[in-house]
Amino acid sequence: MKPTDHICLCYRVELEKVCKYLEREDPQVASLISECLDAGTGCGWCVPYLEELHRKHKAGEPLTIEGTPEAYAEGRQAYKGKKREGR
Ligand code: FES
Repeated sequence: MKPTDHICLCYRVELEKVCKYLEREDPQVASLISECLDAGTGCGWCVPYLEELHRKHKAGEPLTIEGTPEAYAEGRQAYKGKKREGR
């Protein structure tokens, strides 16, 4: 995904905003990323990705998310469908 792609689709938070937050604030736990424009506090789809970014930040690895924004959005749709069905 590109830096300007939305990592949190619920709150339209761009990947680069989360990366800058991680670099600036260096949060001890991934859940604090919610302080960055409420990322991760909606449907929950992006939480594993936010946790992965946090892990990479702590490990000093490049803050990247593989895949296309289209596939990411499709994955969220499937996730939301499963949540609605109670699975
Ligand atoms: S996509 Fe981030 S909470 Fe829904």
